[in-house]
Amino acid sequence: MAVTSVDIHVTDEPALAEHARDFAAELKESLPKDFVFGTATSAYQIEGAVREDGRSESIWDRFCAVPGAVFNGDSGEIACDHYHRYPEDIAIIQAMGLRAYRFSIAWPRIIPNGDGVVNERGLDFYDRLVDSLLHVGVQPYVTLFHWDLPQALQDRGGWYSRDTAVVFGDYARVVVDRLGDRVRHWITHNEPWCSSWLGHGYGVHAPGLKDGDAGAVKAAHHILLSHGYAMEAIRAAAPEADAGITIDLYPMFPLHDSEADRGAARRADGQRNRWFLDPVLRGSYPEDMTALLELLPDSAQDDLPRIGAPIDFLGVNYYERQVIRSGPHGEPLQAPKEGPWADNGREIFPDGLRVTVKRLHEDYPIKKLYVTENGIGYHDVIGPDGRIHDSHRTQFLEQHLRAVAAACREDAPVSGYFAWSLMDNFEWSKGYDERERYGLVYVDRSSLERIPKSSGEWYGEVVRSFRS
Ligand code: FCB
Repeated sequence: MAVTSVDIHVTDEPALAEHARDFAAELKESLPKDFVFGTATSAYQIEGAVREDGRSESIWDRFCAVPGAVFNGDSGEIACDHYHRYPEDIAIIQAMGLRAYRFSIAWPRIIPNGDGVVNERGLDFYDRLVDSLLHVGVQPYVTLFHWDLPQALQDRGGWYSRDTAVVFGDYARVVVDRLGDRVRHWITHNEPWCSSWLGHGYGVHAPGLKDGDAGAVKAAHHILLSHGYAMEAIRAAAPEADAGITIDLYPMFPLHDSEADRGAARRADGQRNRWFLDPVLRGSYPEDMTALLELLPDSAQDDLPRIGAPIDFLGVNYYERQVIRSGPHGEPLQAPKEGPWADNGREIFPDGLRVTVKRLHEDYPIKKLYVTENGIGYHDVIGPDGRIHDSHRTQFLEQHLRAVAAACREDAPVSGYFAWSLMDNFEWSKGYDERERYGLVYVDRSSLERIPKSSGEWYGEVVRSFRS
């Protein structure tokens, strides 16, 4: 289909363009020639059109309606209206010179009841999206679950129910049957720690349950099991495709080089990182996490072979590190970090990405890695010249890509990097808080106009120069 043409004016800023070209030359010395540069989004954060073409309610629609749950009472009802404006968004991706785009599929559009009847109109949307991307030479990297569970399934227990894991496999089969002739890269889940602990342990994400570790462990186990079922569905429907899972990883740094703080950091790593890495990559839960092990469902041992079946790549989302000190009983406590800080309060710590990737390479049998998300939230503003000069984000991207290059020099198998995010969007419980603008492209909240930021222009120039 024809897409609107979009002007990306990086060459209007010669110094920035030159810097991008020099940086690309530097990256070429360390990154593989076929390194994939992309950008990422997720369905609920950008699509809007929540009641259109047969889409059913998701747990995020329901959660956003709870007073006080989301900043300012915001929701993804309209979001970036990507459902209607996707041709323009694809034109922007094309103009940047990117050849890869990671997005997610909304389960409530495909199987509104969670299981059973398939909604063809939902599939049609993603069919058009995939065709439009391929038409301009952009490879789709498709995530099957980025948190928007059909509410109908939540009403039947959601991730507390083993059945949800089984029907996730059926949903995966439906999607891959339709798109698998064109989509070569599949990601089953995005950040299972967030879905389980934030959604079921602490209640700050949908479905808003505050059931502590007991709830989180149960939900996490069924999510991991559903990853296993989805992998089987992908293997059956698209045997040639590459498939994996995206896990959010936080390197844990002990506050002091003491035995107590090192032990606490190891426990924090067990709960946050190894709890997901070990089952997927080793087929076992970490033995030292005894308190969590006791909370697993009875079926856990029998489920592990399915969860630990081979994947083709691991997706890594990296945002920041954690600094850990020991509490009086050895429990891990977050200690203050040193900065520098972004507007949204996150510490900027690029070397954490190198450390994370290197550690994965050393500790786990991983053939291939993609950094499937990395980015930062700032309160970006339109300057008097009508443009967004977000040099802080350019610097962030540069530092983190340099960390990836350093990891590659240490032999870590990193095949690609996806900047979060293509455009400013609905940042979950933070809503549209101005400090949470993560985009390479600015989105005006009233008109929904897209304006490329200078970081997006710079990133595009880096990517194009890298290839030339
Ligand atoms: C990650 C999420 C993504 C986005 C970024 C900022 O945890 O996967 O959807 O919200 O954080």
